[in-house]
Amino acid sequence: MKKIGVLTSGGDSPGMNPAIRAVVRKAIYHDIEVYGIYGGYAGLISGEIEKLGLGSVGDIIHRGGTMLHSARCPEFKTKEGQQKGIEQLRARGIEGLVVIGGDGSYQGAKALTEQGYPCIGVPGTIDNDIPGTDVTIGFDTALNTVIDAVDKIRDTATSHERTFIIEVMGRDAGDIALCAGLAGGAETILIPEENYDINEITERLLKGQERGKKHSIIIVAEGVCSGVKFADELQKAANLETRVSVLGHIQRGGSPTAADRVLASRLGAKAVELLIEGKGGRAVGIENNELVDYDIVEALENKKHKLDLNLYKLSKELSI
Ligand code: F6P
Repeated sequence: MKKIGVLTSGGDSPGMNPAIRAVVRKAIYHDIEVYGIYGGYAGLISGEIEKLGLGSVGDIIHRGGTMLHSARCPEFKTKEGQQKGIEQLRARGIEGLVVIGGDGSYQGAKALTEQGYPCIGVPGTIDNDIPGTDVTIGFDTALNTVIDAVDKIRDTATSHERTFIIEVMGRDAGDIALCAGLAGGAETILIPEENYDINEITERLLKGQERGKKHSIIIVAEGVCSGVKFADELQKAANLETRVSVLGHIQRGGSPTAADRVLASRLGAKAVELLIEGKGGRAVGIENNELVDYDIVEALENKKHKLDLNLYKLSKELSI
C-alpha cells in the first residue's frame, strides 16, 4: 500500500485530532503517502482531498474537534454516493481508507468494504457505543467535562438546597449518564437502556430530604427524555421544584484528556498497521487494554455495544 486516506465523520469527539496525527505519522514513518479528506463522507463525494505531511498534523495533539472537519452525510447512505466516494479515492490512487467516527461512520465504512474498498474503522465518538471496543475515543474527555459541570452545579445546589436535573448527551446509549452519575454521586440516573419508575424516584428523593439531605442531583440521558420534561414530571408527581441544566455540545469539545490521546494514538497507528498488512474491512478497538481488530461487517452485525448494568446497580446502592 503506497497511498492511504483518512477522514473523520459524524459527531466530532475530543481525540480525533491525535488519532489523525497517529494515522499520518505512522503512515509516513512507513513511507506511505496520506491524504486527508475534509468534511467526512460529504467531502469524499465532492473530492475535498489534500495530501498531508508531517507538519500538517503538528500542534494538534492537544486540540479538541477535528482538523479534517466532520459532517453527517445522508447521500453516503446510497449506493450512488458510495460509488462516487470510491471513484474519488481510486482517481488519486488511494488504496485504503481510515474512517474515524461513530456508528454512522462505521456504517459507511462497512458499505465501502462490502463494495470491495478496504476501510478501517477507528471508534471516535463521545457516546462510547461502538461494538468491538471497551471504550471509544472522546468518551473519557466528555465524561470529565460532564463531571466538571456536575461538581459546579453541586456547589450551587448545596447553597440553595435544591434538586438539579442535568441533561447529558446519549440518544441510544446511557454510558455518559451512567458513568457521570456514578462519578458525580448523583442520586438518580436515567438511561435509555432501563425504564424508570417515577414513584420510586420521588420516594427516594423525599426519603433523602426527610433524612436531612439538602440537595440532589439527577442525571438524565437525552435519549430518555429532556431534562425539562422530567422536571415537569417530578413537579406533577410530588410537587418537587427543581432546576434544569442542559449541558449540550460543550460535551463534544475541549482538549482531549491524556487517556484519550493515548487511546487515539494507539488506535490510529493500529489502523495503519492493518492496511500495511493488506487487511481491509476491519474495526479496531481496545479490550482489556489490548489492541484488537474485528471484521467490520461482523462487528456491526453481531457485536452490539452493551452498557455495564452492574454500574447501574452499584450507583443505586451507593446513592441511598
Ligand atoms: O453522536 C454523538 C452525539 O454527540 C450524540 O450524543 C448526540 O445525540 C448527537 O451527537 C448530537 O448530534 P448533532 O451535533 O448532529 O446535533
